[in-house]
This record gives sequence, C-alpha cells and structure tokens, in this order.
Amino acid sequence: MAKPARASFVCQNCGGASQRWVGKCPSCGEWNTLVEETAAAPPPGSGMSRQSRGRAVTLETLAARGEAPPRMPTGNAEVDRVTGGGIVPGSALLIGGEPGIGKSTLLLQLCASLAATGRRTLYFSGEEAAAQVRLRAERLGLSDAPVLLASETNLSNILATLGEDRRADLVVIDSIQTLWADALDAAPGTVSQVRAATGSLIRYAKQSGAAMLLVGHVTKDGQLAGPKVVEHMVDTVLSFEGDRGHPFRILRAVKNRFGATDEIGVFEMAQQGLREVSNPSELFLGDRDAKAPGAAVFAGVEGTRPLLVEIQALVAPSVLGTPRRAVVGWDTNRLSMLLAVLDARCGVSLAQHDVYLNVAGGLKITEPAADLAAAAALLSSLSGDALPSDHVYFGEISLSGAVRAAGHMTTRLKEAQKLGFKRAVVPAAGDLEAGATRIGLERLSHLKELAESVGPCH
Ligand code: TYD
Ligand code: MG
Repeated sequence: MAKPARASFVCQNCGGASQRWVGKCPSCGEWNTLVEETAAAPPPGSGMSRQSRGRAVTLETLAARGEAPPRMPTGNAEVDRVTGGGIVPGSALLIGGEPGIGKSTLLLQLCASLAATGRRTLYFSGEEAAAQVRLRAERLGLSDAPVLLASETNLSNILATLGEDRRADLVVIDSIQTLWADALDAAPGTVSQVRAATGSLIRYAKQSGAAMLLVGHVTKDGQLAGPKVVEHMVDTVLSFEGDRGHPFRILRAVKNRFGATDEIGVFEMAQQGLREVSNPSELFLGDRDAKAPGAAVFAGVEGTRPLLVEIQALVAPSVLGTPRRAVVGWDTNRLSMLLAVLDARCGVSLAQHDVYLNVAGGLKITEPAADLAAAAALLSSLSGDALPSDHVYFGEISLSGAVRAAGHMTTRLKEAQKLGFKRAVVPAAGDLEAGATRIGLERLSHLKELAESVGPCH
C-alpha cells in the first residue's frame, strides 16, 4: 500500500523542514518563513525504508584524458567571458537579478545570437505571454531570429515538449518560480515546487546534452529567492546586477563548475536592448567632473580585466546626534573600518560629520584595494581641495593604517596610462614589471602619508 503524502513545514529561505509550524526557522533563524508543503510520498520500491542492495561502481583515476569540457560559444563576448568561454552543453545555469533589471532581455538576445550560430534554442516564458515576448523581440530587432517560443508554466508540459524535441541546444526557462509540477500539492514558487522543477530540468539537461538556463527571482536584499538547494544543484550561478537609474549592467559568475568566478561582463541598457561594453573604464569615467573635491579614481581589477571607476565622497558637518553614514556600491562595514583607521591612526576624526560614499555608475566594488581610493576621496572632501585629476589610487588599508600590496599592479597601471592618467598612488610593497608603464608612482606605506598630503591639515 502506498504511504500517504507527508505534510511538513518547509522554510522558504533555507529549505529546512520541520514537523510543526514555528515562527522562527530552526535551521537558519529567519522569522516567518515556514510554509506548509506536502511532499510526495517516496515511490514504492525506492528503498526509503529499507536499504537496497547496491551495485559496485567503477573507480577511476584523476588523470585527465585531455578532454576539456566542450563549449558552446554564444556569440555574445561578455556572456562568453563570464561563463569561461561559452556555455557547456548539458550544464544547468541559474541567472538571478532584481525585477526589471533586464534578465528576459538578456536571455532573448542570447537565444537569438546563439540561434544565429546555427544552434536550436527554445524559450519558455512563464511570466509573459508569447505575444509580449514577440513584442519585445520586435523592439530588439530580433523578430526574424530562429528562436522557438512558448508560454508555459506546467512542468510536465515543458518536459513533454522537450521530450519530443530532442535536438535543443539551449533551453531557457523564465522563470523557475513560475513553474508548477502537478504531482506536488504546493503553490508555484515554494521550495518544494522550485526544487522539484529544477531537479527534473537538470535531469533532462544531463540526459539530452542541452544546456538549461533558468531565471531565478531575488529577494529584497539581493539573495536568490527560494532554497539555497537550487544554487547547489546547478553548475553555474550568474547574477545580473545594476542600478535601475543607470544604464550599466554587470553579469557576474557567483559559482561556476567549469571556470573561474571572478570575471564580469559589462552591458549597457539602450533603446535596442543590451549592448556589450568591451572597454568599461571609458564608460565609467565618461561623465566625470574632475575638479570637484571628494572624487578619486580607483584603478580596480575584475577578474583579468582592469576597471577604472570614480569613487565619490561627501563629508559634511552633522546636526544629528548620530551622524549619517550612507554608502552606494560599497560595503558599509568597510567604510566604518576606514573611518576608524583615519581617526585612530591618522588623527582625522569624522565623528561630527555625515559621510556619504558613492561608487559612480551603479557599480558594486568588493575589492579591498579600493580602500585607498575611498580614503583619498574622504580626505579630499573634508579638506575641500580636489585631488589632481590625473591621479589614480589603489591599495588595501589594514587596521594599523598600513597600506598593503594589491595584486595585478601592472594591469591596473597599464589601464590608467592608456586612459591618460599621469600618476598613481600605490602601496610601497608589491611587484611591478620593470618598464611596463611610464606612469609616475607615489608609493605609500602608511595611510598617514596620504592624510598629510591631501587631508585637512596639509
Ligand atoms: P526585462 O528584461 O523585462 O527585466 P527582467 O526580466 O529582469 O524583469 O527588462 C525590463 C526593463 O528593461 C524595462 O524596464 C525596460 C528596459 N528595456 C530597455 O531599456 N530597452 C530595451 O530594449 C528593452 C527590451 C528593455
Ligand atoms: Mg523577466
């Protein structure tokens, strides 16, 4: 006799299950995330209750057989860069991003460019009707692209369609939260639905060799919605970021089983959809006001690519008991640390000041080497004197105030030189290829030296 389905409460944040409803998830500590879901009973004979007799598997060595994973170049240079040279057939990718950031646009363009290379691409839209997708394709000038389209949310129907069409190279599901499997008694978008749908689609991808591209929603704070389980299940997790007030969009690999995760792809949202940006520094420095105090150019590196970006600071006397600290595109804790170091090690106190810090262009910077540029921007705003417009800055600042070496020095300096900068303020330590650049160097070993030259007391 088949067992009845088991009801349990599943946390919509972490996927942890609990027998009773509780306000706080026992696994991840989030509040109000438990939802009742009925898991399907284990299929008879699946051996859930009784250990089944196993079958011995062949053990292999680690030695490579010279077979790199085959890649499908997508015809989109930025996507190829982020995925490590193209999408691997039979792999599953998850792409997350805020609503309206341009995921559907990117994927439609990707399907079209892949289809133009002779690949068969299928686009299942669960959020928009086929007519809406067609309308977007028309706006993008892609009406003639040989992309196959369906508006469907039923997982069984999608799998049946895919089963009949065995020649697909890329399947896009937009989005995984809209799918529902009729075997499950839970609403679309709940953990068990998302998990079941992802599992079936990944299984199809592995069997058929088609790459599976899933769109995932994100929550308010930018996490991929649904269980972390889905991130574990797929081979690659990409995040599509940007500020809706700015045209720039960044595609970032968060996880990649077939390549590095430090490369970014840069796009610009224009009238005709997303445009690839191959020289992002020029774009991010485009509308710079070099004479304003409080702006410093940071010579950064994303993956293997140098990226120059302006960091802007505004320091103003505060009328509040607890002065304001607001950050866009940088880590708030990092700013607090920097302010503490400026106070304790350099004698520059901002305790009576509101501090605003902004990375221009809607970019998010995670590199610690941005510390020195942020410090220079803060000091310049405090003193009211603009920094020299032909200077770039980079270097990590430690709690002692020491300026620590940053990687890829030569790459950063070469890019700065290419864009016409004359001097770089850099850490005293760190290797530099001899004769690589003609840019003038100012080497610092302690933040105090910078505070003395640009700070309020210079
Ligand atoms: P969309 O791809 O629908 O976002 P998502 O799928 O991530 O929710 O993108 C929607 C936004 O993109 C919309 O607000 C308008 C903008 N957009 C353009 O600026 N130009 C275009 O050519 C297109 C198609 C969209
Ligand atoms: Mg969409």
